[in-house]
Amino acid sequence: MNNHLHKTYLIETYGCQMNVADSELVEGILNKIGMQKTTVVDDADAIFLNTCAIRENAESKIHSRLGNLYKLKLNKPELIIGVLGCMAQNLKDDLLKNKPYVDIILGPDSYRNIPMLINRHNLDKKSIVDTKLSRFEVYENMFPKRGDTFNAWVSIMRGCDKFCTFCIVPFTRGRERSRSIDSIVQEIQRAVSDGFAEITLLGQNVNSYNFEEKDFADLLLEVSNIDGVKRIRYTSPHPQDINEKLLEVMASRENICNYIHFPLQSGSNKILEKMNRTYSKEHFIYMVKKIREIIPNCGLSTDIIVGFPGETDDDFRDTLQVMNEVKFNSAFTFKYSPRPYTKAAQFSDQIEETIKKERLDELIKLQKKHTLEHNLAKIGTFQKILIEKESKKSINHWAGRTDSNEWVIVDKNNNNIKDIIPVEITNATGVILHGKQIESV
Ligand code: 5AD
Ligand code: SF4
Repeated sequence: MNNHLHKTYLIETYGCQMNVADSELVEGILNKIGMQKTTVVDDADAIFLNTCAIRENAESKIHSRLGNLYKLKLNKPELIIGVLGCMAQNLKDDLLKNKPYVDIILGPDSYRNIPMLINRHNLDKKSIVDTKLSRFEVYENMFPKRGDTFNAWVSIMRGCDKFCTFCIVPFTRGRERSRSIDSIVQEIQRAVSDGFAEITLLGQNVNSYNFEEKDFADLLLEVSNIDGVKRIRYTSPHPQDINEKLLEVMASRENICNYIHFPLQSGSNKILEKMNRTYSKEHFIYMVKKIREIIPNCGLSTDIIVGFPGETDDDFRDTLQVMNEVKFNSAFTFKYSPRPYTKAAQFSDQIEETIKKERLDELIKLQKKHTLEHNLAKIGTFQKILIEKESKKSINHWAGRTDSNEWVIVDKNNNNIKDIIPVEITNATGVILHGKQIESV
């Protein structure tokens, strides 16, 4: 008996792009069993939160959202509340004990089971948990329900075996495993025929991809040869797995974007070692030089954590020094947040919150300066942008991204979303560039 038929669901996604892709997968599964998506909370028979556990504040957001949903459920007792993803994996016991109104708790490797769990819950009304991690699940041959946008997320590997000492991901997402090249290619061919212009390959450690002796560079080359793929991006890589072979493939193919997210985390060798990052600051800087040598004008972004246990002022200065030497185009910056199960959470030399805050402010200020420098240097250059959406500030302008990942605002003219157009950069304000369309680059 299909108890879930004709039911309406809403799914809210928190965290990284992998979660966005996973939500699309879940949507695909729910649509297939006849459920219908809504974006209106009051219309939903089931509400799923696809959650993130990477930092404490990511979790706090979910806790307060669950508080709201609980109130909603008091007036609508038949409402199903589901917690999916990393927090489900991480906090199942806590949720069961302290939030009994959560009906379904489903870890990142259990999405295939969601129809069965909804059915079971409809029969016995009990809370159900399924958070078993798998060594094999890569959701092969399951087509996600993609959003109405220019970009298709394609997950190519799952999990992480790196065990950086700050990171909860190896615990919430389990061991690394890669999808077959054939199934990835098939999914991308389908996305292209559905009209998607850009493909973003996703994985917690995307460039650790390894399937039957084929590595990430091999995969990237195959993807770039698929007819109709206008642009390819990928995220998130680990510096350890960026090699010259990969850089050569990127440089050789027009449709692979000249952009690398290259997470530094810290510029101090002592802290890098305590983080178990497996590279030194010297190696990191050497790889940046290689990237810029092989892929001229490559956009570089990074992740940096301040206030990791034991980080002294000198260690922090080392991070600023590496930033000054590399000058990233942009940076995602974080205060260290102790996470359950991780080694670093047990280190005795935790840093005070006020120091973390001061360091973060200083880091953000420096990055803003570097971003502006990069953007000012772009004025007068010619770029190709892929139009992604309407400008937030004006209905007469489009916002698009350059190959190297900068946002550019242009007049709409007769162009449409998904068009790639040549522009000359005319101005830079903070992180945004302005441009005017030209005949050709
Ligand atoms: N505290 C702060 N930042 C973290 N990150 C991962 N774990 C933590 C943590 N415990 C950051 C890293 C990573 C990014 C996705 O989130 O910089 O690259
Ligand atoms: Fe958050 Fe990491 Fe899980 Fe993504 S994989 S949702 S960033 S904890």
